Amino acid sequence: MTPEIFQRRILGWFDRHGRKDLPWQQNINPYRVWVSEIMLQQTQVATVIPYFQRFMVRFPDVFRLAEAPLDEVLQHWAGLGYYARARNLHKSARIVADNGGVFPDTLDSMSELPGIGRSTAGAILSIACGQSHPILDGNVRRVLARFHGIHGWSGDSKVNKELWSVSRRYTPLQRTADYTQAMMDMGATLCTRSKPNCDGCPLGTACFAFRENKTDVLPTPKPR
Ligand code: ADE
Repeated sequence: MTPEIFQRRILGWFDRHGRKDLPWQQNINPYRVWVSEIMLQQTQVATVIPYFQRFMVRFPDVFRLAEAPLDEVLQHWAGLGYYARARNLHKSARIVADNGGVFPDTLDSMSELPGIGRSTAGAILSIACGQSHPILDGNVRRVLARFHGIHGWSGDSKVNKELWSVSRRYTPLQRTADYTQAMMDMGATLCTRSKPNCDGCPLGTACFAFRENKTDVLPTPKPR
């Protein structure tokens, strides 16, 4: 399938079924998108929503977060788990605040902030700034591994490289924010780990795993 057709199908699905009313999709700016992406790294949307809202009331911008004591940031994180995320968030806020509150605007500089990997940097820059960057979080890995029939554990560097290459190939130059959100939503709501809703999938029979009846073995789990 050409990237153009892939993108058209994904974006068409997003227009009809994508989530557009999440709190971090309102009043979009790099700060709000960054906080939401960090919270969403290991936590589901429904859990994140009230945390995000409380966090934004107490720390409405990067300066308020930077000047807050770490203890208070951790209190607002209590229950979300993976507290390294909150420590890194606070550390990064101080770096950005020292830079006059201006967020990095390139993939390389964004990835240098503590707690922000390649995929999260791409997600923030595409969603908040409309830049075109591929992403590869757990959800997107699953969609692409199934669609392309990419076998092997993604912790294997060769497999990981192939997944990034496929993600790059399909990422559009236009409507990148919607595309990024669409791929995450597809993975979270349709191309789920168990019992994916292939009937509702805009990729249909173009998907390798669907054609070959292999959604239960792709993506390949970590070998044990
Ligand atoms: N998981 C990580 N980022 C996300 C986002 N922006 N929307 C939904 N799920 C996500």
